[in-house]
Amino acid sequence: MNCRWIAGLFMALASCTNPPSEKVVLTFDPDHFTTESRMVNTAAGKVDVEFHAYRHLPYLSRLTDVNYQSLDIEVPVRVNGKELTTGDAPIFFNIKVGGYLSVRNIPDPNLMAEDSQEKVRPASDALSDRADLALAAGLVVVTPGCRGWDNQAPDGNYYGKAPAAIVDLKAAIRYLRFNQGRIPGNTDQIITVGCSAGGALSALLGTSGDSPLFTSLLKSAGAAEASDQVFASACYSPITDLENADGAYEWMFADLPTPYGPVDYGVSLEMREAFGVYQNELGLTGREGFGPLNIDRYPNYLMHYYLVPAANQFLEELNEDQRQEYLTTNPWISWNERTVSFAFRDYVKHVGRMKGLPAFDDFPMVQPEPKLFGDSTHPARHFTDLGVRFEMNNPNIHVDGEMLQRTHLMNPMYFLQIHHKGLAEYWWLRNGTKDNHTSQTVMINLATSLENRGKKVNTWLFWDGGHCADDDPDGLIQWMKMITE
Ligand code: DHB
Repeated sequence: MNCRWIAGLFMALASCTNPPSEKVVLTFDPDHFTTESRMVNTAAGKVDVEFHAYRHLPYLSRLTDVNYQSLDIEVPVRVNGKELTTGDAPIFFNIKVGGYLSVRNIPDPNLMAEDSQEKVRPASDALSDRADLALAAGLVVVTPGCRGWDNQAPDGNYYGKAPAAIVDLKAAIRYLRFNQGRIPGNTDQIITVGCSAGGALSALLGTSGDSPLFTSLLKSAGAAEASDQVFASACYSPITDLENADGAYEWMFADLPTPYGPVDYGVSLEMREAFGVYQNELGLTGREGFGPLNIDRYPNYLMHYYLVPAANQFLEELNEDQRQEYLTTNPWISWNERTVSFAFRDYVKHVGRMKGLPAFDDFPMVQPEPKLFGDSTHPARHFTDLGVRFEMNNPNIHVDGEMLQRTHLMNPMYFLQIHHKGLAEYWWLRNGTKDNHTSQTVMINLATSLENRGKKVNTWLFWDGGHCADDDPDGLIQWMKMITE
């Protein structure tokens, strides 16, 4: 069999957009794989992983675009020559979305040369990426493509606006479940993992399992009839709660200039106040008898439970000289008896403001979020009351019901607020303290809501880490082992 020829033909077919009516069989064929190997740099050193690769499996029976709506499965079979039994291994669901952009599953023929270069990985002492670490740890790795706001058909229509990405990812989960028993791995132990927009989608998968709000969307897209609930969700720097994120950003960064100058104080104040109302209405309860996590008490909560412990750990791990140097360059922090003290506002100043005003539903609509909420004929649309008021020059209007519903379908906090039951049991939430892509309240509200619902939530901030920081890749691997034992 000439594999290269068959692969070429598949690429040629795959590079066209399938008409939506094309019917695809969703039954997984366990015998159709290639055997590949990869060197993985793990915390315990380099290991040689041999795995079975199932590539480009369409996960919907009525495809809009097979280049995006298909997935890869990698099943480790040998690590350093030692055989593994992975029939029942947990499944690492590897969400590669960034910026709410689409993720191709089939390499773009125009970029093929670059792609093949990427396969020859340079030798490096840095740890390999999370998915490869999971593979080396014996997990089955599933990497789905999905649609995003940038997908545009030849006729100019957009076909990946919200909620397309979450519909596709749910369909991919359903595909795995539908093939339970045929597919390698334990479909009752699916762990979704992503960063930023991918972290947000991981959180959404973890909070909206089997929600009836997606039933008709999934049915018309041709998703398999199966559950889309997941076991665990890992979210790094999730850019989520989008319709409340502008106010949250002002709550944190209003006093600071953007890289382009100061912000309009009146608009900032209006948004900050709206966020305060929202925060108080969330009705969250802090840890260990802290009581209500309302807006006035938020800085204390962040300081006590997240920022101070993160800074303490960071400084503890430095040697005496490094610590003194860090403290000299950061005189707003003092270190006494092995603990830091600093003012919350000084911390925020240290982080600095990155985005303009509004940070997400920006008036010129150049941020990813208005683009995400466009529709088939509009590249971008406002999705907040302030945005539509600005656009229509009318201070009394609100986003329409259709837009409200779309924002809900993209928001894990919405599913938590309506007490949806299909929640993942285990959560791994991570962010950098220096991330200024969104307010720290966004992930901490997610963590607190989940804790209030009795879920097992492991949350940590990496001191001075930026967006998608991960100072502890092995921590995720150990956590996944622990929760699936
Ligand atoms: C991402 C970053 C952003 O600042 C944002 O607004 C949306 C997505 C990202 O990195 O995925």
